[in-house]
Amino acid sequence: MTSSENNKPVGVAILGLGTVGSQVLRLLGEHETDFTARIGGEVQVRGVAVSDASKPREGVDPSLIIDKPEELIDREDVDIVVEVIGGIDYPRELVLRALRAGKSVVTANKALVAAHAAELSAAADEAGVDLFYEAAVAAAVPVVGMLRRSLAGDKIVRISGIVNGTTNFVLDAMDSTGASYEDALAEATRLGYAEADPTADVEGHDAASKAAIMAALGFHSRVTFDDVHCEGITGITAADISAAKEAGQTIKLLSICERIVDEDGREAISARVHPTLVDRSHPLASVSESYNAIFVESEAAGQLMFYGNGAGGNPTASAVLGDLVGAARNKVHGGRAPGESTYADLPVADFGQVTTRRQIDMTVRDRAGVLAVISQTFSEHGISLQTVRQEAAENGARLIVVTHAAREHEIAETIDALGGDDEVLSVDSVIRLAD
Ligand code: NDP
Ligand code: HSE
Repeated sequence: MTSSENNKPVGVAILGLGTVGSQVLRLLGEHETDFTARIGGEVQVRGVAVSDASKPREGVDPSLIIDKPEELIDREDVDIVVEVIGGIDYPRELVLRALRAGKSVVTANKALVAAHAAELSAAADEAGVDLFYEAAVAAAVPVVGMLRRSLAGDKIVRISGIVNGTTNFVLDAMDSTGASYEDALAEATRLGYAEADPTADVEGHDAASKAAIMAALGFHSRVTFDDVHCEGITGITAADISAAKEAGQTIKLLSICERIVDEDGREAISARVHPTLVDRSHPLASVSESYNAIFVESEAAGQLMFYGNGAGGNPTASAVLGDLVGAARNKVHGGRAPGESTYADLPVADFGQVTTRRQIDMTVRDRAGVLAVISQTFSEHGISLQTVRQEAAENGARLIVVTHAAREHEIAETIDALGGDDEVLSVDSVIRLAD
């Protein structure tokens, strides 16, 4: 029986009342009448689960607060569970408990979805309920819905861009104001952009979870966090940022998901996250602060760009509430959103098979014949050079080499060989270049 048939309000449990949960609760209360009209029935918050029930919560009805999420989920008058706690193992238990009890789930938890989408989707299918996670990728930017619904009739070939607000904030602050890495990260944390443990942001794990979700949805295949090659921004130094600036470039942490053809001629998926040099004229170069931008290339639609607020309480609450409206409408009027689609079953390519372009910055001996020796090392590994620039340096000479596209394993072997080359004093930085 739907809620409209028995005229009962839709009961909602909110698990978590931190940066995101507090804004979800506030906006639900402030726009109650609008939500009722949009859904076609009333929504009532039955309770809010937190870890410390004794903490003061300004503006929150204390009778709603509970520190036992399981009790809240199990209440008969709860129809939809909103999970905004974070982490993987415990929220997995809670979400499965809700789904198995026939309650729809809305979550903002990319780490959970990227690790356990198969199990969670199967539980939702079995119970015939919704599992929504729009907020899990790029917060307010509607990427999940676009991939899951709007482009479901098209063939997507590439999804790329900036999907982590914290690292974009840090790199942008280092570039535009000369802020230190530590100060910029502290500010991003204060503003509520970073994960509970910001290591997830700076090591690229958060972006990798989002890449897994985007690749799975876009390519109708199973892609998990472990399938994504992931490099964060902890190795990026102030010197890298200023060298990029001098060369008319900036550094961004990009997530790239694409269909590739591997060395055996089979179609496969590449999903990767790594710092990337971007020309200042590139549209991604102007994506500042915690903003996100995602490009999608598909067969029929061509190129699409999505841009907006990718982190923080309000933007994330916007996406959570959109999902809540969708799930509540289905409770009121009946029906269910389509589940996941993994029919294409494309394999994930080994990272070594992926082709990228690199900029290699090294210090070499300043003497005749050095360039010839170094060019030889590249050509022995099948890599052709696009540009070579030499500058005077304190010890020896600085050589900045840009390669044409080459397979990752060829580049890795070349860098190893350069390290053992007598003419090379040090390989100072190796950064991939945007297409
Ligand atoms: P916070 O750390 O700010 O809030 C976490 C909330 O969960 C707190 O209210 C905390 O309780 C509660 N909690 C923690 N452990 C438990 C537990 N064992 N039982 C019950 N409640 C618990 O996290 P965010 O709001 O920033 O993030 C929540 C989720 O949203 C994460 O999955 C995150 O990845 C995702 N997300 C976050 C975005 C952001 O910009 N912040 C953007 C997009 C997604 P207490 O208040 O007592 O400490
Ligand atoms: N920590 C995440 C970010 C939150 O900075 O992008 C949004 O998913």
